[in-house]
Amino acid sequence: MRVAITGGSHGIGKATAIAFGKNGDEVCITYRSDKKAALEVAEKIGAKVVRHDVTDNSSIEEFKTVLAEWKPEVIVNNAGVVRWKIFSEHSFADIENILRTNTEGAIKIAKVGVDLKIHRVINIVSGSAKNPSEKLPVYCASKAAMRMFTMAVGEPMICVNPGMTKTRMTDYEGDEPEDVAAVILEVAHGRKGEFGGEVDL
Ligand SMILES: NC(=O)c1ccc[n+]([C@@H]2O[C@H](COP(=O)([O-])OP(=O)(O)OC[C@H]3O[C@@H](n4cnc5c(N)ncnc54)[C@H](OP(=O)(O)O)[C@@H]3O)[C@@H](O)[C@H]2O)c1
Repeated sequence: MRVAITGGSHGIGKATAIAFGKNGDEVCITYRSDKKAALEVAEKIGAKVVRHDVTDNSSIEEFKTVLAEWKPEVIVNNAGVVRWKIFSEHSFADIENILRTNTEGAIKIAKVGVDLKIHRVINIVSGSAKNPSEKLPVYCASKAAMRMFTMAVGEPMICVNPGMTKTRMTDYEGDEPEDVAAVILEVAHGRKGEFGGEVDL
């Protein structure tokens, strides 16, 4: 199977890329800023690497052109950001960055998936979509929107909701990213989850 993973340079995306690679799948990972980290992941599994920014329309269009040629069966729509702050401490820039990356950017990547008739678009949402936290109010909103979007669209969308996972996003607290990756692999291969539904961890 061919799978494209946005934000495959770190954390859950990185662990997922490695899990697919070990499974014998062909992988394309994207990164936004950390080329070195992306190349290290790619070297481990022989993956294709693409730089893009999900907050930039022309960058998404370029990514779409790459995928139109490479023809993945699955997109893992994973790239995301977090701000650990109460709402009063959020700047407009914080609000824009969270919503443009986690919601608007992710919905545009999902649109690329639909335009290219990708079999499965796995939206990496979060337990925060259902469990409000005053330390993550805009992040919770960004993920709740993606959960509802997945349900509203149905096929080919499925969402996976990790809990707190050990990545730089959480200062490396929580579950192992490899455990999340194993679930994403099952969903990608059609052994877990239903279109328009969600898989909680
Ligand atoms: N960690 C958790 O506890 C947890 C729990 C539930 C859900 N999630 C979700 O899981 C996903 C991955 O999170 P993570 O914890 O693995 O985070 P992470 O380690 O910080 O990795 C985030 C990835 O997204 C990429 N990225 C960020 N902004 C981007 C943009 N504008 N365009 C393209 N790529 C961008 C980063 O690339 P560069 O580094 O190259 O910029 C990086 O590869 C996110 O959607 C997150 O919300 C995480």
